[in-house]
Amino acid sequence: MHIASDYVKPGDIVIDATCGNGHDTLRLAEMRPGHLYAFDLQPDAVRKTRELLEREGFGEELAPGGSITITCLGHEHMTEFFREQGPCGNTGPEDRSAGPAAPGFASVILFNLGYLPGGDKQLTTRAETTLEAAKAGQLLLKKDGLLCITMYSGHPEGAEEKRALLAFAEGLDSKCWHVGYIRMLNQKNDPPEILLISRKR
Ligand SMILES: C[S@@+](CC[C@H](N)C(=O)[O-])C[C@H]1O[C@@H](n2cnc3c(N)ncnc32)[C@H](O)[C@@H]1O
Repeated sequence: MHIASDYVKPGDIVIDATCGNGHDTLRLAEMRPGHLYAFDLQPDAVRKTRELLEREGFGEELAPGGSITITCLGHEHMTEFFREQGPCGNTGPEDRSAGPAAPGFASVILFNLGYLPGGDKQLTTRAETTLEAAKAGQLLLKKDGLLCITMYSGHPEGAEEKRALLAFAEGLDSKCWHVGYIRMLNQKNDPPEILLISRKR
């Protein structure tokens, strides 16, 4: 999250692709972006995130003219969501339809994978949809924007997700993408690992 804060300037558009209990969404809101979008598959997660943000003094608005939109939707559908709704800010939907080479509008897109802490472990993120969403995230990212994916490989679906994401990230064209990978080398029991993908152009 500290890493993400370096990428957010006032007025920017940021996305939390797995809002869960809302802690990451709150951290993003505290960075004072212009527009904040958050997604989760579970209505309960959306409700908890809304409640947390309201409790912490973030209603629908971040700043004058800014907004917070929390939506119950699988992140693999983000592209359609923004195509229909259009992002707030100065980049129109036409910029995204030009394909992967066209820069998008988001400064930061966060994924914190796995299941809702304290919730149903069956409702976890899954390799296939996560990969689809990461690819959608690439299109939504603006130049110098950051895709930050926290992976948990200590459960079977998480291990599969990690394998799929690392294979995908290793294959990205180095002319267009910086790719970084953070691992805790001295911790036991499959600590979280972080994949960072930044758009160069
Ligand atoms: C580890 S939790 C996220 C924690 C959260 N960022 C927080 O700060 O509390 C992972 C979340 O991903 C959600 N999720 C699972 N599949 C999803 C999907 N396809 N699209 C969006 N969210 C999904 C789960 O419902 C769960 O809330």
